This record gives sequence, C-alpha cells and structure tokens, in this order.
Amino acid sequence: MVRLVGKKCILRSVESSDVGTILLWENDPDLAQFSDPHQTYSAKQIEQFIVNQQLGFKANGQIRLMIEVNGSAVGAIDLFDYDGNNAEVGILIYDHNDKGKGYATEALEIVKREARTMGITQLSAEIAEENNASLRLFERCGFVKFDKNRYFCSMKRAVAPSILSADFGNLERDTLMLNRSAAEWVHIDVMDGVFVPNISFGFPVLKAVTKVSTKVIDTHLMICDPIRYVEQFAKAGSDYITFHYEATDNVDACIDAIHAAGAKAGISIKPATEPDAIERWLPKLDMVLVMSVEPGFGGQSFIPHSLDKVRQLKAMITKANPNCLIEIDGGISATNAAEVFEAGVDVVVAGSAVFCAENPEEEIIKILNA
Ligand code: DX5
Ligand code: ZN
Repeated sequence: MVRLVGKKCILRSVESSDVGTILLWENDPDLAQFSDPHQTYSAKQIEQFIVNQQLGFKANGQIRLMIEVNGSAVGAIDLFDYDGNNAEVGILIYDHNDKGKGYATEALEIVKREARTMGITQLSAEIAEENNASLRLFERCGFVKFDKNRYFCSMKRAVAPSILSADFGNLERDTLMLNRSAAEWVHIDVMDGVFVPNISFGFPVLKAVTKVSTKVIDTHLMICDPIRYVEQFAKAGSDYITFHYEATDNVDACIDAIHAAGAKAGISIKPATEPDAIERWLPKLDMVLVMSVEPGFGGQSFIPHSLDKVRQLKAMITKANPNCLIEIDGGISATNAAEVFEAGVDVVVAGSAVFCAENPEEEIIKILNA
C-alpha cells in the first residue's frame, strides 16, 4: 500500500490490478465543458465505477492512487501500461467543489517523484487539444507535447539550458523558445567576480527570465558568502538555489536559509572537491551539482574525472536520500550526455551546446535522447 503525503493532499494506492482508465477531468470550471460529456460524478459513483471497472477505455492499468484532501477522496491518478521504464499517467478529478484547489498539480508532482524512485524513466499522457485545463496542468508539471495529443515527461533526464549562453539582447525570445522546448529547467548562473573570475548578472536578469519562463528555475550561485542573498533569489522566483561548498563556512545555515525561503537547496562542488566532503549533508539536500569544468565561463571542455564523482555520489545518495537529484554543469553536449546520464545524473546543464546550435530546440531533444 502506497501512501504518499504532500502539503495539500495524500495519495493512497487502492488498486494494483486491471483498472482501465482514464477520463481527464479536473475541477476547473473551464474544463468541465470540454473534458467529458458527463456531468460531475459523486465520489460514491466514482468508487462504484472503479469497482465495476467502468471508467476505462485503456486496459492494463496497474496502479491507481486515490487523491485525498482532508480525509476525503477527491480524485485519482492512474499509472498504467507500466513496463518498468514507461508509464502512462492519467488524472481523474471528480469533485467540483473548492476544497482541494491546487491539489492536482501537487498530486502529479508527488506521482512524478514516486515514479522516479520506482525507476520509471518516462511518463506519457494523452490529452485532447481542446482540454485546456488539463493541458495547463500537465505543462506546469513538465510535460511536453510530442505529437498531436501525446505528451511526455522525461523522468530521469532533464536538461537545464544555461541562460549565460543566451542572447541577452533577446532574452525574452530565448526564454520563450525554452518554454516551447523539451527542457524542463532553466539554469541561471550568478557570478560575483570574487568567487569566480567573472561577473555575469543578478536580480534584474533573473526577474526578466522568471517573468516569462514556465520552467523550473535553477539558480547556481557562484558567489562568496551566499547566505546573504538566498532570500532575495528565492523571492525573485528561483525554485532551486544552489550554492558552492567552497564559498561558505556554514553549509547548514545556507541549506536552512534556502528551505526557510521556500526554495529547494542544492550544493555544488568544484572539480577539485571530492563528494565525501558533502556526504554528511545529503539527507537534507534536494540536489548536488557537480561542476565538470572550473566555474566561471561557458564553453569549456568537460573534465572526465567528473564521471567518477557522479558514480560515487549516486551510490551515497541511494543510501542517504534517494530523492536528492544529481546535476552536472560544464562542457555537456549531445556527444557526452549519454555517459553522464548513465553514470547517474538526473539533470544536465547545457549552455553553449544549446544556444550555439543552429536549432536549439532540436539540440535539447538530442541531449535528452543521447
Ligand atoms: C560555468 C557555468 C555553467 C556554464 C555552462 O561556470 O556554471 O553553467 O554556463 O556552459 P557550457 O554548457 O557551455 O559549458
Ligand atoms: Zn552553472
């Protein structure tokens, strides 16, 4: 029995058999008119449909997670056609009242997290073109359109294009391009000219990106004494804030300050720092960023020893905190992405490979499928 707890809802698995589903249905007034010809179902009716297996037009459903808000079931998420790597995901929300507002996004995020720990590498969904509320929901959760009604979300492989290599004269254009792309994250490199021998940009540029971006904002602080600025970076829209192990005397305080500001906390290690230096903080970290070049500039060559560090870290993380992601940054392209993903990386940063490509959107897909 799976029981996954989020801030707003609990997911409880009630089936692991042949439940065919899925009607896409959300308690969003815009959606009701598009999503299904039926009127709202009551919770009781839905339970009965599930028992009778009447909901399905797809067979072989394997896992059904009921979404509970304040103790009552308000919907379900199905993962089906699960073959160890891929799973189809469908969401059925059958409660039209407001008590669970916002839970669909959270429930889908919880499912993604769980699917990742189950080793599922890709989630797919079928969403009708006119089904706007569901489209928005899935897009918010990192699903990307591949053809007509098919969307997918790569679980293990995310690309974080680095804005450092974007065209600052056309930042909005480049950010919109990333919105359309299969990249789930956007990487923001902040340099202070002291921790690294270069100065990049600060809050105004970050805000210009977050204003337009629909992606996960991944801020990489290459600055001394980072704790001074974490709150401001969180306020400016960072989802992840990563600071350097080498830039602070108080790692614990930095992690806590990032969490207190409502962001996810990452720590980064330079090429000369080995993973055991940060092992003790793994249980409270959301991400470790392995620098595969000396921080400071885009366009440098990948340092091969980084792969050993990733493998070592992966082994530590599997024991200490399997939810902690591994990101790699520097010298990544479609040519070496396969080996870093295989070594255990979840998210690759790519600056020049993406922005210097003739077709950046295609390049992102090449990196994901490397
Ligand atoms: C370097 C930065 C990187 C950089 C990567 O200090 O942290 O994020 O933008 O650029 P590429 O992918 O070109 O090596
Ligand atoms: Zn970076």
